[in-house]
Amino acid sequence: MQIIICHEPENWADDAADEVSRQLARNPASRLSFATGATTLPLFDELVRRHEEGRIGFSQATCFQLDEYRGLGAEHPASCAHTLINRFYNRINIRKENCHFLDGLNAAPVEFCREYESLIQEGGGIDLQVLGIGLNGHIGFNQPGTPFDSPTHSAKVEDFTWQKNTRFFKNPEDNPRDALTMGVATILSAKKIILMARGGEKKDILCKALFGPVTEDVPASVLQKHPDVLVILDHSLSKLCSS
Ligand code: GLP
Repeated sequence: MQIIICHEPENWADDAADEVSRQLARNPASRLSFATGATTLPLFDELVRRHEEGRIGFSQATCFQLDEYRGLGAEHPASCAHTLINRFYNRINIRKENCHFLDGLNAAPVEFCREYESLIQEGGGIDLQVLGIGLNGHIGFNQPGTPFDSPTHSAKVEDFTWQKNTRFFKNPEDNPRDALTMGVATILSAKKIILMARGGEKKDILCKALFGPVTEDVPASVLQKHPDVLVILDHSLSKLCSS
């Protein structure tokens, strides 16, 4: 595991964007996956900027959605699909048919998740997975207690995360209690993983996730078992595990 501290807020997304650029240079038909949430928005903007400058192209790339609220379609402004489409996919040259979504409106989530997992694994897995981390250590929507061998599945959004995410909803009652998510095993099967985190409030959970015991109580701790993880932190997280 490699850890990079980014000291200048204006360059927050550069290292992650460099990795995406390198990945696409190695293999233009790479299979990518990006977390949504506040952390990765600057990365989308940076990748769009590089695309507009002709420095990066997505015409052969494929993207798989990491997680989604159940009950929300892509037209809902708080859905993860809405963010991916409007903040990222519509601003780069990725082909629509190469963007795979977790359908939050699907009435048969078990079958849907099984097929989504097959689509990922039978096509050769994810080449580069970009993650954020929740304050309780969740990755995707894999909450504490999620088995490490879980594939893509329907998950409960535990209370703590639900409370945190109400900020994305005009009406808190619209905030779903269930989600679809790539599982911990799906995430771990990616060839390379980037974990991005910023803001001092994530210090304690990052200390546990990166240096504590590997336990299902802290889903992100599973990343310690992956051979190729890049962690990108901002200056407020430069002294992890110290008071
Ligand atoms: C959300 C999402 C995750 C995201 C994480 C961190 O609940 N399910 O995919 O990475 O929490 O979000 P943020 O970047 O806003 O802190």
